[in-house]
Order: sequence, then structure tokens, then C-alpha cells
Amino acid sequence: MNVFEIPTKLHDEKRQGEAYAPVGQESALFHKKFYIESYGCQMNFSDSEIVASILHQEGFGATRQFEEASLILLNTCSIREKAEQTIRKRLTEFRKIKEQKPDLLIGVLGCMAERLKTKLLEEEKLVDIVVGPDAYRSLPALITEAETGQKAVNVLLSREETYADISPVRLDSNGVTAFVSIMRGCNNMCSFCVVPFTRGRERSRSANSIIEEIKDLVEKGFREVTLLGQNVDSYYWFDESTNTTVNFAQLLEKVALLHPLLRVRFSTSHPKDITDEVLYTMAKYKNICKYIHLPIQSGNTRILQLMNRTYSREWYLAKVDRIKEIIPDCAISTDIISGFCTETEEEHNDTLSAMEYAQYDYAYMFFYSERPGTLAARRFTDDVPEEVKKRRLQEIINLQNELSKKSNEKDIGKTFEVLIEGESKKDATFWKGRNSQNKMLVFPKAHYNFKPGDYVNVQVESATQATLIGQIVA
Ligand code: SAH
Ligand code: SF4
Ligand code: F3S
Repeated sequence: MNVFEIPTKLHDEKRQGEAYAPVGQESALFHKKFYIESYGCQMNFSDSEIVASILHQEGFGATRQFEEASLILLNTCSIREKAEQTIRKRLTEFRKIKEQKPDLLIGVLGCMAERLKTKLLEEEKLVDIVVGPDAYRSLPALITEAETGQKAVNVLLSREETYADISPVRLDSNGVTAFVSIMRGCNNMCSFCVVPFTRGRERSRSANSIIEEIKDLVEKGFREVTLLGQNVDSYYWFDESTNTTVNFAQLLEKVALLHPLLRVRFSTSHPKDITDEVLYTMAKYKNICKYIHLPIQSGNTRILQLMNRTYSREWYLAKVDRIKEIIPDCAISTDIISGFCTETEEEHNDTLSAMEYAQYDYAYMFFYSERPGTLAARRFTDDVPEEVKKRRLQEIINLQNELSKKSNEKDIGKTFEVLIEGESKKDATFWKGRNSQNKMLVFPKAHYNFKPGDYVNVQVESATQATLIGQIVA
């Protein structure tokens, strides 16, 4: 398994920096073209679809060829130093293109824009536009400003902006699965994390606008939505017109009830906030997928305290027990950071033993990368040497490889309901799709007449580390 330098929350979803294809656009309608690459978490990929919608209104159509674009946008991530380095490298490449094509506008969006603000203009001389995650509505005005040769910046964070009324333009879509943002920002102050600084305060989007967006997706034939937020379990909406409130469990239920063939997923859950009510709601509805991404970060209570995660090792592991008790077939994945400030060898071993206990089906694993301005950067010394961080990370990865293999081998012989997402990239005579537990299955199309968006029963015959391989059964 790879160490994902930048996390994408769902296996095999869009890749880092992948250009978007202009799906379903009548290109003749657009007199200008923009090219966008997205980095970081699914929230960023989802934001790019909001940006595309705003740009469509302005007559900009998406292109996958940056050569034909008059506007190049990078939707950036600051989560680890490596993520920012990747983007800086990409900017240098685009700068070369701009030297040949002076009218080309280059814009930096997202978390790096928010973190570095005007510094980006100073450091990366040929960036024309800098826009933070809450300021995308001002993009048209910023483009106009930049067209006159001025540098255009808007990095204001908002307490209200949720882009609730903007219907995202689904870019590069498989027509089956879609992401729906239900909240923005984060109020947790995990000491290692830059997100509260780049994304601002937590705010929930109106339940009605979420439901309307999903209804529209269902009408268009989509069969799976993933509700997105940094901490979905703290979703909370007060509906003034009806004087009622909606919490995350209630929102999940509302979405599940929209259509029996619509699958519902969500990401990410903070262990401190996921409630029994959410777990019981998951258990009650077949179409709420049995999969929880539950980041542990560390298996040691002292380190968890320094990380400001607000739970102990025991509390976290009890949550895992509770999940398995209420939803026995639930898959669990996690995020882990190795070599956080002052972590000892013993404390690292606690992470390994917690992994053994939880028997994760999947994990995203990183070594600690100090981010300027975070609580940890201000309070603690980043004192675990890089070789030690990397060696511990390797031990974590090795163990997870074993756990993932074990988890996949347990599935051999079982039959799962799979939602077909499209053709397998490796072999066009195979379909690929996921089961409720979020595992990717590939299987021969055979003589059946199925298509993407259909549900099929697939019996697993063999497994690699990342994929289950099977056959359609009646
Ligand atoms: N809101 C999500 C996570 C967002 S960031 C949550 O709370 O789980 C995704 C993951 O990146 C985190 O879970 C963490 O494991 C990792 N991460 C965040 N900051 C990091 C840092 N400074 N160094 C290394 N990994 C980090
Ligand atoms: Fe970062 Fe913690 Fe918020 Fe997740 S919950 S985004 S790790 S501060
Ligand atoms: Fe990266 Fe921002 Fe997401 S820092 S992980 S793109 S919220």
C-alpha cells in the first residue's frame, strides 16, 4: 500500500492533480476555457465543482488540455509540507507556459491560497489570482481585475458561506457517484492541523439545500452520494421556517429515505462526535453504507492529549467496539500520524497495538509534518528525527498491509451487492464497483447486460491487497 502524501478519502477516487474533463458540456456554449487541477481532500474536489459552476455562469467551459485554456487554476492543499511542495513545482511548470503566453491567467485556490495569502503573489511572481475557500463567489470579479493586469486577491474567511444555492457542475463524473458538501470549516483544534486556519469556522449547510441537491442527483441517475465535511458528526441545522433542528443522524435518515436505490456514505467522522444515534441509523437503513472512516492519529493517550484529540486510547477503542456491536459488518478505516512531537518508541508501539485491536480494513498513514501557525508548531518541538518518523511510518504501513490483506482474504467466498461504477481501467471486459464496506471489486462483464449504476451480486474468488476479484452471481 502507498503512503498517500496527500489524502484522498476514498480509494480509487479522483487522483491528485488530475485535470477535469468537460463532462456533458456543450463546448460551443462557452467562448472561454478554464483548466483546473485539484489537490488534497475530497472537500477540495467538491469545491472545484462549485468553482466550475461559478465559471460556467461567466462563459468559461472546462477543458482537460491546459494548452487551450485562458485560465489555469490550481485548487491547493496545505495539510503537509510535501503537499505544498508538489503544488509549487506545478506552478513553476505553468509559469513557463505563461512566459510564452502572457495573456494566460494563473490562479491559486484553496488552502494554500488561504495560508499564504499575498505571499503567494510575491513568491510565485506569475500567479495572477489568489482565492481562499470561502471567496469563490468573487472569482468573476477577480478575473476581470486580473485581466487588466492587476494582482487579484480575496482570502476572506466567512462564518456563513456554504455555497448552498450553487449547484455544482459535476466534472469528470462517472454519472453514478457524487460528493455533496454538508458543512465547511472545522472548530476542532487538533494541534498538528492547519485546516482550522485555512478553512475557518465550522458551519453547516441548510438541510433543505442538501436534500434538493441530492434529489436532483437521483433524477439524473446518480446512485451514491458521499456527504462531506471535516467533522460530519457535528452537523447541526436549525430550520427557522419549521422551528426544527436537524442533527447528523437525522440528516442521514432523510437522505436514506430519498430513494431505496441511493447509497449514502459520509466522511469524515471525529471519534469524539460519532453518536449511537448515528450508528443505529446506519444499522437501520440498508442503503447507508457500512463503512466508517474513524481517524485515530495515535494509539497513545499522552500523544493524543498533545494532539488535542480529546479522547484517550481506551475511549477510542471502546468506540470501535461499539461500532462492531451495533453494526457487525461495518468496515473501519483510519488516519495515522507517526513521529508526532516527543513520541517515544513505546508510544509508537501503542499505535501498532491499537491497529491490531481495531483490525482496520484500510488506513491513510503519514509522518508528522509541522505546519506553521498550528498549536503544535507554537507549543512543541518537532523533535523526532525524520529517519525515526519514516521508520515508524514504515512499521505502521507494514502492519496495515497485513491487516488489509487479512481483511480481504476474509471476504473470499462471500457474496456482496456491488454498485457498478464503470469499466475496470486495466481490462475493459471487467466492471468495477464497490460494496457497502467501500471495498473495490472487479468482475467480468460476462454475458450479462448490466451497465454503470446497476446493482449486482458478486461472489469474491480472490483478492489482491487493494481489490477483490469475483464473478457475478444470480
Ligand atoms: N478532518 C479530518 C482530517 C483532515 S486531514 C479528521 O479530523 O479526521 C486528513 C489527515 O491528514 C488527518 O486525519 C491526519 O492524519 C493527517 N494530517 C493532518 N495534519 C497533518 C500533519 N501536520 N502532518 C501529518 N499528517 C497530518
Ligand atoms: Fe484537522 Fe482535527 Fe479538524 Fe480534522 S478535526 S480537520 S484533523 S482540526
Ligand atoms: Fe488539504 Fe485543505 Fe483538505 S489543507 S486536506 S485541501 S481542507
